[in-house]
Amino acid sequence: MRHLVRGFRFGFIVLALVAIGSVALLQAQTTHQHPQPGTHPSGGAHRHPQAAKMTNPVQADATSIAAGKSLYDKHCAGCHGETGKGDGSMGADLDPKPPDLTDAEWKHGSTDGELFLVIRDGARNTGMKPFAKKLTPHQIWDVINYVRSIGPAKSH
Ligand code: HEC
Repeated sequence: MRHLVRGFRFGFIVLALVAIGSVALLQAQTTHQHPQPGTHPSGGAHRHPQAAKMTNPVQADATSIAAGKSLYDKHCAGCHGETGKGDGSMGADLDPKPPDLTDAEWKHGSTDGELFLVIRDGARNTGMKPFAKKLTPHQIWDVINYVRSIGPAKSH
């Protein structure tokens, strides 16, 4: 009988430890997603002067644009639409909606550096999540080169 009680007690301690462990893990995950430096909640249009100074190191040649297109089709078209008009099916219920990437209106700034920032870090509290872990910096520049190729001429 004594043996049994001890067994129960041991089981309880193990359970408690597992529970504490998962709470700690959950907390670690939430704090992990938290800081997105340089991004803003879904406020009005704004600029990112520091990011604007960043220059695109990847030449917008056919290879880069083709690589950017396949990345765009895979990661972005669901929301921003096949042709970049912001009409992807995944974006229909979002507020704010995914913007048209082919017009000359940029809420987060119009330079390559500012596009880089919003793609890498996301826009807080919107459907635009950070791609820092999914795309390498080079891949982000490829996507930007592709977006430029379907949109209006690059603005400075
Ligand atoms: C789940 C939907 C979703 C996906 C996937 C997505 N976006 Fe977005 N994107 C949004 C939303 C919503 C916004 C608007 C954010 C805001 O209003 O601040 C946005 C904003 C942007 C902006 C800023 C536009 C501006 O006017 O300043 C760029 C650039 C952009 N996305 C590029 C991309 C690229 C490139 C990809 C793929 C690598 C991508 N997005 C994937 C939903 C998405």
